[in-house]
Amino acid sequence: MKKIMLSLFFGFIFFFKSFADEGMWLPLLLGQQVYNDMVKRGLKLTKEQLYSINKASIKDAIVIFGGGCTGEIVSPQGLVFTNHHCGYSVIAGNSTLDHNYLRDGFYARNMGEEIPGGNLSVQFLLKIEDVTSQVLDSLKGLTGAERAQAQSRVLSRLNEKFSDPENDIEARISPLFKSNQFLVFVYQRYRDVRLVGAPPESVGKFGGDTDNWEWPRHTGDYSIFRVYMSKDGKPARFSADNVPLKPKWYLPVSLKGYKDGDYAMIYGYPGSTNRYETSYGIKQKIEIDNPTLVELRDVRLKYMFEQMKKDPAIKLQLASSYAGIANYWKFYDGETKQLIKYDVYGQKKKAEEAFEKWAMGKPEYENILSDWEKAYAAWRPYSKNRVYMNEGIFGSPLLAFASSLQQVETALVQPGKTQADVKKAIEAASEERASFLKEENRISDEQILAAVTMMYYNNIDKDQHPSGFYYGLKDKYGKLDDEATFKKYAADVFANTIILDDAKWKAFVDRPDANTLQNDPAYAQASAFINNYVSKYLPKFRAFNNANNELGRLYLKGIMEMDPVKAKKMYPDATFTMRVSYGNVKSYRPRDAVFYDYVTTSKGILEKYIAGDYEFDLPARQIELLKKKDFGQYADKLRKDLVINFITTNDITGGNSGSPVIDGNGNLIGLAFDGNYEALSHKIAFDKDLNRTICVDVRYVLWCIDKLGGATNIINELKLVR
Ligand code: ARG
Repeated sequence: MKKIMLSLFFGFIFFFKSFADEGMWLPLLLGQQVYNDMVKRGLKLTKEQLYSINKASIKDAIVIFGGGCTGEIVSPQGLVFTNHHCGYSVIAGNSTLDHNYLRDGFYARNMGEEIPGGNLSVQFLLKIEDVTSQVLDSLKGLTGAERAQAQSRVLSRLNEKFSDPENDIEARISPLFKSNQFLVFVYQRYRDVRLVGAPPESVGKFGGDTDNWEWPRHTGDYSIFRVYMSKDGKPARFSADNVPLKPKWYLPVSLKGYKDGDYAMIYGYPGSTNRYETSYGIKQKIEIDNPTLVELRDVRLKYMFEQMKKDPAIKLQLASSYAGIANYWKFYDGETKQLIKYDVYGQKKKAEEAFEKWAMGKPEYENILSDWEKAYAAWRPYSKNRVYMNEGIFGSPLLAFASSLQQVETALVQPGKTQADVKKAIEAASEERASFLKEENRISDEQILAAVTMMYYNNIDKDQHPSGFYYGLKDKYGKLDDEATFKKYAADVFANTIILDDAKWKAFVDRPDANTLQNDPAYAQASAFINNYVSKYLPKFRAFNNANNELGRLYLKGIMEMDPVKAKKMYPDATFTMRVSYGNVKSYRPRDAVFYDYVTTSKGILEKYIAGDYEFDLPARQIELLKKKDFGQYADKLRKDLVINFITTNDITGGNSGSPVIDGNGNLIGLAFDGNYEALSHKIAFDKDLNRTICVDVRYVLWCIDKLGGATNIINELKLVR
C-alpha cells in the first residue's frame, strides 16, 4: 500500500518536465525532476545537502519557532534569526515603560544579558516517515464520524509510539493530500530560548498596518534569539548553567547580494493552504465567513487602538494581541477582494464541471459534488453564528476568559466530582486569570462587549439567539434597538463581575460555590452563548466538517485518477510541516502601466519617514546614518545603496514568517516576512504572475545590528560570505 501511495503521488514527478514557482515541496520526497528544475534555475547543492537524515544538511538549521513561525540557526553557538513579528510577544512581554525594548530595541552585549524567553521553545525536525498504510489499513470501510474518530485514535496511538516525552521528542502525524497520505514528523524540542536582540519597533514594524501585506516595503522585520542546551548537550528547561546549543548545521550569511532573476529557496513551516477548495467553499468564504470576521475585527481594533494611542502603558499591554488581530483582519479583507477579482469561484466551477463529467457512472465519485453542495447548504444558515461566537462574543477578552471557567462550574456541579477536582480547577483558573489580567484593558473591553452583544442581536437570526438572554437584557436595561441599552449592560457586567474584583475573586476561591459563578454577569453571558451554540449548532458544524473532510479526500483521490498529468505536478497543501519552495528574485507589474522593482532601498525609507507618526517614524540615528550613506560593508554594489527589502516568486504562506531565503550556494540572503496584496488569494489559488514573497535583506538586518545597534558581538558570531 505504501508503495502504491508513494508512486501515486510522487512517482510521476520523475517524468515531469517543467515547473512553475508554485509548490511547497516536502524535502524528504523531492522528486528528481523537481530537483533538476531547481538546478536549472541556479541551485548549486546536492539533494543530500538539502535534506538528509544521516548527515547534517540545511534542514538541520531550520526550526519551528514558538507556536507558528520559522527560524534559522546562523551561528555555531545556536544563534537564531526570525522575524520581529515572531518575537513580538516576547519582546513586548519583557518591556516596561522604563525598559521599553519594544519601542527602543534591545541588544545583549554578552550572553549574560540575554533574556529568558519564558514559554518560548524551538523544534528541530529529526525525521519524517511514511505511515500511510498503517493508518489507512485501520480505516478501511469507515466513513463519516466513525472514520473521523477512528482516524484520531490511530494517529494518537502512532504519535505516542514515535514520541519520547522524557527527552522532549514529539511526533506529530500530518494528514497530507486531504488524508490520502500520512507522514509522521518527529521533532526535538528545546525549551531554553533567549532573546538576544531586536530593532526598535519603528524599524521592525516600519509601515505598520498600512504597509502590512504590501509591496513596496521597507521593514526591518527581524529579531534574534539563542537556543541553549544542558551542559551535557541535551535539551533542557531554562537553567543558568545551560550552555549555547551546538547545532548540526548553521547558515552562512551572504554579503554578496543578488540581482533580478537570481535563484531563491525558502525553507520553513507554511501553516495552511486549501488549493483544492471548492466553489461552494469560496462562495461561503466570500459571502459570509470573511466579511463577518472583518466587520467584527473592525470594531475590536477600533476600541483597542483608541486606548493604545492614548497611553504608552496600554500600548505595551495590548500591542501583541492587537498586531495579531490586525494582521488577519487585513489578510481576510484582501483575500476576499482578490478571490472576487480573479473570479476564483468561476475557475473552480469550471474544474468541478470537468470532474463531474468524468465522474459520471463511477459510483465512488459521481455524487461528490452534489453531496458537497448539500453539506454547504445545510450548514450555511448557521455559519455566521459560528463566526460571531469566535470573533464577536469571545472577541471580548473578559468573556473569553469567563468561558474558561466552565471547567470550574463542571467541577462544582457534576456528580462524582470531588473536592480535589474543585481545587484543581480553581487553581488553574486563578493562574489563567492572572495572565488574563496582565493583558486586560477594561475600557476597550467594555466597549467591545457592548458592541458585539448588540451586533449579535442585530445580525444573527433571532431564532438562533440564546434563549432568554436578550429578554433579560431588555427587562433590565431598556430597548434593544438602542445602543445605550447595551452600553448600560456592559457597564454593569464590568462593575459587578467577580473576575475583575480581587476581593470578590478571593472570596470565591476560598469558598467556591456554583451559585456565585452562575450568577456572575460575565460568566452568565459566556455560558448562555456557549450552551446555546454547543447544544444546537456544534453538532451541525461537526456533521458539516466530517462531510467536508470525507468529500475532500475523495475529490482529491478522484482528481489524481482523472488527470494523471496534473497528479504529476501535485504537492500537498500546507500543514505546518517542513517545506521547501524555490523560485527567483523578481520584479512585477501589479496593474496596468505600473512596474514594481525587485528591491527597495534606503531612499524609500527616507521618502516614507514621517516624524512622530504611529507607523512611519524612525530613530533619529537611523535618519542620520542613512542621510550620510553610512552603509559600510552592507551596501549593495549594484544599487550603490542599502537594500532594505526584496521580493521573490516563492510559494509561501503564514507560518513561513522568519524563514530563511537561501541562495544557490546555501547562504542566507534574507528573511521572508510577508506576502503581497495582489496575491492575497494565495491560500486558495497561487497566481503565477502576481504572487510574491516579501523578504528583508540580510544585509539590512546586519546594518541595523551593527551600525544602528552597535552589537558587533552578534556580527562576529556569523560566518560572513563576501
Ligand atoms: N503580514 C505578516 C505575516 O503574516 C505579518 C506582518 C506583521 N506586521 C504588521 N504590521 N502587522 O507574516
